[in-house]
Order: sequence, then C-alpha cells, then structure tokens
Amino acid sequence: ELAPRFPLTANASPAAADAHAQVMDHLTFGVAFTDHMARASWTPAEGWHAHRVGAFAPLTLSPAAAVLHYGQEIFEGLKAYRHDDGSVWTFRPGFNAARLNASARRLALPELPEEDFVASLAALVGADERWVPEAAGSSLYLRPFMIATEPFLGVRSAHAIEYLVIASPVGPYFVHGFQPVAIWVAQDYHRVGRGGMGAAKTGGNYAASLLPQQEAYAKGFEQVCFLDAATGTHLEELGGMNVFVIDADGTVRTPSLTGTILEGGTRASILQLLRDGGRTVREETIALTELLEQIRSGEVVEAFACGTAAVITPIGRLAGEDFDVTVADGAPGQVTTELYTTLTDIQYGRREDPHDWMYRL
Ligand code: COI
Repeated sequence: ELAPRFPLTANASPAAADAHAQVMDHLTFGVAFTDHMARASWTPAEGWHAHRVGAFAPLTLSPAAAVLHYGQEIFEGLKAYRHDDGSVWTFRPGFNAARLNASARRLALPELPEEDFVASLAALVGADERWVPEAAGSSLYLRPFMIATEPFLGVRSAHAIEYLVIASPVGPYFVHGFQPVAIWVAQDYHRVGRGGMGAAKTGGNYAASLLPQQEAYAKGFEQVCFLDAATGTHLEELGGMNVFVIDADGTVRTPSLTGTILEGGTRASILQLLRDGGRTVREETIALTELLEQIRSGEVVEAFACGTAAVITPIGRLAGEDFDVTVADGAPGQVTTELYTTLTDIQYGRREDPHDWMYRL
C-alpha cells in the first residue's frame, strides 16, 4: 500500500466523550472544532513539503507574518456528509480544488495539486471520523485555507506559505434552518470592484462584507446583498452566498459570473440540476429596480440564497433604503423546496448521483 500523502504525525489527545457529546448534541455553525488538522508547507526552493496531520492547536506565527498585514490568504468550504450506512462522503472536491487554485493565482499564492487537496480532506476526516455527525441536516464542515507566513513587511508575495485544513461539526448556517431569511440590499457599500479579487475566495472580500452585514443584522436582516460597484444597479451576491430568483413561468435566473462574483459550487450544481430537469435557466444581469417591480407584480415568485454553508435558503423579503418587498407570500417556494430536497438527497446518499459529485472519504 502507498504511504499516505498526509501521514498522522501526532495523535491529538482527543476531546473527552462528554465534551464530544456536548458538541454533537448542540450543533450550530462553526463554533466547535475537531481533534486534528491537516497541514503542508511551501517555500520556493522546496515546493510543497511536510504534508501531515497533527493535533488541532494554535499556530505559531511571527507577528510580522505577511498574512497578518496584507491579507495574503485564501480559503475553501466544503462538507463531509454521513450516509445511512455510516460511510462518509464529500461533494465535488475537484470543484473546490480548482477554485482554490484559481484563488491562489489571484492572490499570488502557490497552487496545490488536486490530489493533495483531496488527500488532505480524506486524511483529516479519517483521523476525525467520530466528529462527522449523524443528525439530519448536519455535516462536518471542512475549511481548507492557505496563508502567507513569511515574516516580512515589504509588500510582495511571501516566500513561506502554509496550507491547513480544519473541521467543524455543524448544523444549519441560519439558526432556523430551511426558513425564509430577510435580505438587506447595501446601496452605500460594495464588496469588490472590477479587476479586484471578487472572483477569489479570500478573506479580504469577507472583511469588506462585515460592516454592511453588521448594519443589516442590526436592522433585523440575516444577510446583506451587494450590488455591482460599477453602476450600483445589478445584484451580485450576498455576504457569503450566491442568489437566485425564479419567475412565474418557471425560468430560473442568477447573476452571471462577471469576475466580481465568487462562483459557488452549490450555484454551479443547482444550475446543472435545473438544466438536467429541462428547465430554462439564465445566467444574466439582474437589475434591482426591475426585480423589485417583478416581485411586486408577481412575475418573480421565489428567491433563494445558496452556498456550502447556507445550502439552499429561501429569501422571503428584500429591503433597502427606499423599498421593502415580500417575495410572493414570504414562504419557501416550490422550486426552492424541490431543489433543496434534490441537492441534499444527493449529498446524503438518498438519491442517485448522476454526475458523480459524491466522493467517498
Ligand atoms: C460557504 O462555505 O458557503 C462560505 O461561503 C463561507 C461562509 C459563508 C461560511
């Protein structure tokens, strides 16, 4: 047998049974972590080396580490799902490996071979299998990320990089699960501009969303929706997820990938499932003014947010400085509900997987 790519170098002292049970019986999102983490290091001379799995533990980092000053970092998000027979699977890891590398190119970070990406997930989940929950709708959220650790205050791409994967047993991202959320449309803030990092999954884009998100939350909204920075007229995406709308005639629309939107794996999979089902799907510009009119007139009958964390979450209400509209009757729509069922049935192994999206860990 081949030596594992990410050997277990140090066995963590595992969380005690009662602490483990306490976490697994009260799953929320992203607050508890497993016993281990996967890791590899990179320098220009050595390339990727020292692949390993060790204890989940604080990082030792120079206060001068480039990531702390200039934000040279990228991340990914995917989930491990437990099927009824006990086996553990992830969803489209090749998509996330490719996106990590697209982000790496934009942030001047080294690319990681897809085999290493997938092996890091398998090794971590192998070491932390007991943290993959069984409860319906729960999963082990996997967070691969890459950071610039070189201690150097000059502004250039760093010469010492770490890749890590941590894992968190999670329930739904929104506390109420598959229940409609209210969205605040940011008109004074933008997430990214043309030529910026919008298509990359990097911390800076999420940092840009925090203040608008906080203001939206204070007003009673779960998420903020960003408009394009160039014209301030088109929907782009929410703080951490993509957005779809559904017309009364069944057409499904989502903003096209303009370079300023993060291409979600859930977004791509939903488009595929809809096309499989013969539905009309359009990736196009969605103008806010028109959309509000279409919601008011009943031409748009459903809207939802989607992402690995959010899965598919109905949008019941859309508001901004001078408008406040309810989508249809504000309840989860039929197409949204069917999509949620189809996608999660595939992910949890309850339905055929026609595109071989599931990967056994
Ligand atoms: C995701 O994993 O879906 C993200 O985009 C990250 C964050 C919203 C938790």
